[in-house]
Amino acid sequence: MLMIISSILMCIIIADMPYVHAKNSNLWHLPEHAIAYLEQADFIPHRAEGEAALLEFLPPRVNGVLDLGSGDGRLLALVRLVHSHLHGIALDFSDAMIERLEERFASDPLVEVVRHDLDAPLPAFDIRFDAVVSSFAIHHVGHARKRSLYEEIFDRLAPGGVFCNLEHVASATPSLHAAFLERLGIVDEDPSNKLLDVETQLLWLREIGFGNVDCHWKWRELALLAGVKSS
Ligand SMILES: C[S@@+](CC[C@H](N)C(=O)[O-])C[C@H]1O[C@@H](n2cnc3c(N)ncnc32)[C@H](O)[C@@H]1O
Repeated sequence: MLMIISSILMCIIIADMPYVHAKNSNLWHLPEHAIAYLEQADFIPHRAEGEAALLEFLPPRVNGVLDLGSGDGRLLALVRLVHSHLHGIALDFSDAMIERLEERFASDPLVEVVRHDLDAPLPAFDIRFDAVVSSFAIHHVGHARKRSLYEEIFDRLAPGGVFCNLEHVASATPSLHAAFLERLGIVDEDPSNKLLDVETQLLWLREIGFGNVDCHWKWRELALLAGVKSS
């Protein structure tokens, strides 16, 4: 009952926050959208710091990793550099990204590429993961789906497993959001973005049962949110 009331309250609070975006469109299935992102992916300010922080919060031994919204596999490839023996699953729904993932991991028998739309429930995998990771992807699903996805991630983690979400989050105020766009030189904001503030997401992770939930790194609207499933 308490959970239902808290969810209703959360919906009211979110609906009342004009700077928390929740549009219906998702342009990521368009190849040109994916290609435009890949062309500037290396130039996102401070992203390497966020990625380094993500690597730091993975468990010392990682055998299985699921990367949600994997893109061309950049994050999974980074994780594989540190944990070379791991079995990885790269998941995405875009044809252009799937093509690049299959190319990048073609000679790697330890990485599987899965086509899946995050708007639908996560597939049932054969293994429980030591880490579920994601970078700049989950903000493309709606807020209610973010929360249910976090629940599915919790279910798919092994005890002691970690969820590390390097994410594009909402600014605390409209003027901070405008400043972020200006800093990145963005004139036309991606209508696929459904940005949500850090606090709500941390609260949801705690409610779901994650422990040691925190925002470990943040620069403007880029943040590393993480939680651990207790052993
Ligand atoms: C900004 S890119 C990030 C890609 C990669 N994680 C990286 O850090 O470079 C967002 C990724 O999320 C994927 N994506 C967006 N919406 C999705 C959905 N509903 N289901 C699956 N993947 C989705 C896109 O195809 C794209 O690969």
